[in-house]
Amino acid sequence: MLLSQGVRSLSSILLIVAGALSITNQSSAAPVKILADTHFLKSLGIKPISSDPFLQLSVAEVSEYQAETISHSAHQYGKCGGFERLDTDSNIQVSFDLMRYQASQAVAFEFVGSASPAVEKKTFIENATQQVSEDNLREMVQWLSSYHTRFHRVPESNKHVEDLAEKARQLLANLPYPYQVDLIQHTKTPQKTLRVRLQGREYPNEVVVLGAHLDSINGPIPTSKAPGADDNASGSSNIFEALRIASMQEQPLRSIEFFWYAAEEIGLVGSSEIAQSYKQANVDVVGVMQLDMTLFPGEGELVMGDLADFTNPWLRNYLKTLNSLYVGAQWKTTECGYGCSDHASWHRQGYAAAAPFEATLNTMNKNIHTNKDVISPALNFKHSAAFAKLAVAYALDYANSSLRPTF
Ligand code: BES
Ligand code: ZN
Repeated sequence: MLLSQGVRSLSSILLIVAGALSITNQSSAAPVKILADTHFLKSLGIKPISSDPFLQLSVAEVSEYQAETISHSAHQYGKCGGFERLDTDSNIQVSFDLMRYQASQAVAFEFVGSASPAVEKKTFIENATQQVSEDNLREMVQWLSSYHTRFHRVPESNKHVEDLAEKARQLLANLPYPYQVDLIQHTKTPQKTLRVRLQGREYPNEVVVLGAHLDSINGPIPTSKAPGADDNASGSSNIFEALRIASMQEQPLRSIEFFWYAAEEIGLVGSSEIAQSYKQANVDVVGVMQLDMTLFPGEGELVMGDLADFTNPWLRNYLKTLNSLYVGAQWKTTECGYGCSDHASWHRQGYAAAAPFEATLNTMNKNIHTNKDVISPALNFKHSAAFAKLAVAYALDYANSSLRPTF
């Protein structure tokens, strides 16, 4: 239900976009498989190769040129690509089945209890969340948005990734327990993903994930200036601050992994390769918290959006409880209607994901994907700091507990 409502509201936006699009049939080498809203494809005259009436989603094969045209024109109209690239060899039926399964879990959750964070950790976590510094966030957003672009396909597309890795190495140089700082290479993009792993003391194979995409894009002209302050230097800085604070505590019981993903803006490319490889290796990821856009308080200061689609109801409820205990933001359910950020990559592999967001979809920052996505009076670091606090609470509570999703 939730999902189909979201898809329906999205399709009205997409139909407007579609009206202004003319998709020519330029041929290119290999066709691209895309997953998109069924009505959207229909309005473009693109014939699906497979459809799911419940999800109102379809898969089609288009040329590289068509894929880029759909994406860029939609970006010019504000925000939503409304489609995703799929692996050419992906099994569509399995993807549909998994999405239907995940959608049905939302219904099942209504009948199942939620998680209770342990009260004995309250002082420890309160102290940790109080260490979040708005100045640190501002400094890092300023620094990341000073790169001309962080787009995945420019000659220097790894410069900022390597620079952030160096900052992480310096931060962790004296950590008294095992950790790793890795630059992960991908097959579908030259850009790398940065992963920092703090090794768990008791349950190193149970992994608590925090993620943010580090790349940026200029919608109309992808390689031109794209400061991406809100999208997504903000979430990237939030989880770096959570790493800084987590690294000052005792070794966690579970492992904590922080990801700064490559190439999210062209179809969740970095995170989907990673989530697939984790699934293949059977890695026990107990939860994924995604932070993508946290600086623009579209519903008011300290009002958080909580994405209801492509996420896990148990994990969302756990974050909501942590928010009441340690942050005190208002909580407002919202949805994208499609896999709008990296949480969807994990969700598709069956992992529990959640994605707190700066506002609701209707009131989010409209300057993203343009050269205007810079620090300005409209961006609010107190608001963003609330997300960093929630990330700290999640990392420290979850990595020091034996809680896990009940389904
Ligand atoms: N940060 C944006 C969009 C977004 C909106 C994320 C609401 C989370 C909540 C993200 O970087 C983005 O631009 N996503 C693309 C889709 C992606 C599959 C290319 C979009 O929405 O067009
Ligand atoms: Zn974006």
